Amino acid sequence: MTDRPLRFGVLGAANIARAFIAGVAPSAKVTVAAVASRDPAKAEAFARETGVPRFHGSYEALLADQEIDALYIPLPNSLHAEWVVRAAEHGKPVLCEKPLAISGAQAREMFAAARKNGVALVEGFPYLAQIQTAKLRELLAAGAIGKLKTIHAAFGITSADPQNIRLSPTLGGGAVLDAGSYATSLIRIAAGERPTRVHATAHFAANGVDLTTLATIEFANGLLAQMSCSFETGYHRHALIAGTDGVIETNFLNHPPRSGPAVLQVKRGIAFDAAFEPLEVPAGNGFLREAESFADMLVHGPERWTGASEAESIDIMDTLDAVAASACSGGWVELRS
Ligand SMILES: NC(=O)c1ccc[n+]([C@@H]2O[C@H](COP(=O)([O-])OP(=O)(O)OC[C@H]3O[C@@H](n4cnc5c(N)ncnc54)[C@H](OP(=O)(O)O)[C@@H]3O)[C@@H](O)[C@H]2O)c1
Repeated sequence: MTDRPLRFGVLGAANIARAFIAGVAPSAKVTVAAVASRDPAKAEAFARETGVPRFHGSYEALLADQEIDALYIPLPNSLHAEWVVRAAEHGKPVLCEKPLAISGAQAREMFAAARKNGVALVEGFPYLAQIQTAKLRELLAAGAIGKLKTIHAAFGITSADPQNIRLSPTLGGGAVLDAGSYATSLIRIAAGERPTRVHATAHFAANGVDLTTLATIEFANGLLAQMSCSFETGYHRHALIAGTDGVIETNFLNHPPRSGPAVLQVKRGIAFDAAFEPLEVPAGNGFLREAESFADMLVHGPERWTGASEAESIDIMDTLDAVAASACSGGWVELRS
């Protein structure tokens, strides 16, 4: 335990790494000490642009850097497993971007590698670090809206650039793994348990990646959830959680909205005219909150991590596998327990 900030290394000059580096910049607990790119010139330019003091011209060099305490991995989805395992073998804890992997089997291998090497591994969903989400968890745990019966969680964007990793079948593209991982994580976390089976339908691009997918997700506790995700719509991000005694609406935002405060809407009671009560909660940059929670976890233990637990991340990945399988087969897909 030291007083100096946790020194992150960033693997890949990813677009989202720019937002991560800017987001954590005000922190006294964490700092980005080095970045790496497969291309040395790109690494140097990225370090200069983002104000990161050091850079490496290969990912291997960053893993071997003794002045890095932990890694932030924002690589294409298909590369998360390989580089998380390599990082673990170098004794580095990892904050890996969502989705953790491209299959439940990979996610299990990644956690096994982290355990074997005695390092922490967590999946980054910045909205889980927001006070709004902590408040949502608190309300659900306290039974504020009774027993949950239905959840609708939707996340859609427009992603049409064929060069974007999101549209690549070999890099783990597709709406389910991208926007769908967010909506599915919200459903899993609100449900508080692993789903039992999934039925999905999707529209696919000519190269095989899904562009728009809608899934029904069943739980043993009687909850029925619907997840929708798309690369073909205007931006929307919204969840409606309905229970026997009320309803909660949330936009499960990663970062504070530019248009105003983050708001949770809570309707207590079942009457037609029961009003939604807006619960305004402070919001901060999601990357800053997430990275500081990660640093606290490394020092004080897993209870300080506000994000998805290992079990939650595995359930989310298995659910995404089942959604993809069902969208191809057209039938229900059971999740093995
Ligand atoms: N939490 C969030 O809010 C959030 C938001 C957006 C994205 N994400 C996640 O972050 C990850 C990166 O997304 P992004 O949009 O930032 O991606 P991106 O801009 O395309 O960056 C991905 C980086 O991966 C590296 N890379 C290594 N092998 C590659 C290959 N074969 N093809 C392309 N790039 C390769 C590249 O870095 P070098 O060339 O420098 O090596 C590239 O800059 C994804 O897992 C995504 O789901 C999370």
